[in-house]
Amino acid sequence: MQKTLIVDALNAETAQDAVQICGWARTRRDLGTCSFVEVNDGSCLANMQCVVDHGTDAYASLGSAGVGAALSVTGALTPSPGKDQKWEVRAEKIRVLGHADPETYPLQKKRHSDEFLRGIAHLRMRTNKYGAAFRIRSQAAWAVHEFFRERHFVWVHTPVLTGSDCEGAGEMFRVTTLPPGEENAGKDFFTRNCYLTVSGQLEAEALAMGLGRVYTFGPAFRAENSNTPRHAAEFWMVEPEMAFADIMDCMELGEGLIRHVVERVLEHCEADLRLFDNFVDKDLLIRLRAMLEKPFARVTYAEAVRLLESSDKSFVFPVVFGMDLQTEHERYLAEEHFQQPVIVYDYPREVKPFYMRCNNDNETVAAMDILAPRIGELVGGSQREERLDVLTQRLQETGKDPDDYWWYTDLRRFGSAPHAGFGLGFERLLMLLTGIANIRDVIPFPRTPGSLDF
Ligand code: 4AD
Ligand code: MG
Repeated sequence: MQKTLIVDALNAETAQDAVQICGWARTRRDLGTCSFVEVNDGSCLANMQCVVDHGTDAYASLGSAGVGAALSVTGALTPSPGKDQKWEVRAEKIRVLGHADPETYPLQKKRHSDEFLRGIAHLRMRTNKYGAAFRIRSQAAWAVHEFFRERHFVWVHTPVLTGSDCEGAGEMFRVTTLPPGEENAGKDFFTRNCYLTVSGQLEAEALAMGLGRVYTFGPAFRAENSNTPRHAAEFWMVEPEMAFADIMDCMELGEGLIRHVVERVLEHCEADLRLFDNFVDKDLLIRLRAMLEKPFARVTYAEAVRLLESSDKSFVFPVVFGMDLQTEHERYLAEEHFQQPVIVYDYPREVKPFYMRCNNDNETVAAMDILAPRIGELVGGSQREERLDVLTQRLQETGKDPDDYWWYTDLRRFGSAPHAGFGLGFERLLMLLTGIANIRDVIPFPRTPGSLDF
């Protein structure tokens, strides 16, 4: 028999004589003449209530199976007299596919802390909260692709193994086939040093200079030793790159992308979002809907610094013109001052990477960050330096050998053109969408300093 997903069964228009559903028992209640087993298969937040009459073959097959067991239940899909669900399954045949020992199964029916669930990351997708988080993650990813596809962006795949440090921050994981302790000296797999990419931007720029509008969406790796709720060693980034575009186009695109994903998730993940609104962040839905209503705020870095200096908040890192903004400053701007996402642009060139386009004032670069309430930096992007002489000088200034970047500078030798792009941290977007406060809880198997279980 064709198996039916619970999401489809619960949306059925009419009763059905026989359906087969498969999932994991969430609860089991044994009453006088029948047992109620709530089954969840991950296809939606809701469970299917299965009614098992005592004395039937189905009841005999169910045996002692309880919370956590994997079941196949076949029976009639009938209107449920209970008020919590429209349909239930009257079990005629049950197969216990896998038992779960009630003494040792870690997910008992009670509220578990996030910390406890991180320790059983391989099981936490069986809870309401993590099931919802990972379904929202999937819908958000679909929405990213839909957004770019509608705008004729070409989806490109940039390499994970790389020889260059895009951000120049030296936070790269080394990849080697040499035995521990052995020096490279040309003996390693690629002869030169190889790393996991921190960003697909440099390659995306080359692709944009032939395909016009492109985006990559994949994993990035950073060995920054910051154990914060917003940093992971492995995270996913959405990186569009547009030829014949400037910093303003870049802001427009970033704002449009965030809005589009928020809109789609509101549309497709109603029940899952309501769970987060009820139990994780009580202003979540209000905040998400408000984001669709008015444009994001925009200020230059210089204006942002003035706002921070004139606030009566005391910051751990005192605000001085020329510094890079810290999370506390970013959050103050988005959360308290503007109370909505804000785009800060034209940062001092000293605090930004070599590839950002120098403005005419010779002090700032055409950079833009999108800051969001509770998250801080969600997007980082810029117009790219398309002038060969300025780029070469910037490489030297930032301590790099232009020869190492020969192909990147070549793009400025042959048909150079204004272009711009950004990186959006996909997990930070998910934190915004769900209200989840720790990045470890929007990634199924998070990688953070000192933690590589699973
Ligand atoms: O601002 P970043 O470092 O920008 C770049 O890597 C550019 N090359 C992107 C580009 O222009 N194509 O990173 C972009 C975004 C940040 O705004 C943040 O949301 C996210 O990536 N991010 C992280 N997310 C989770 N964990 C980390 N360790 C992150 N580092 C950056
Ligand atoms: Mg950044």
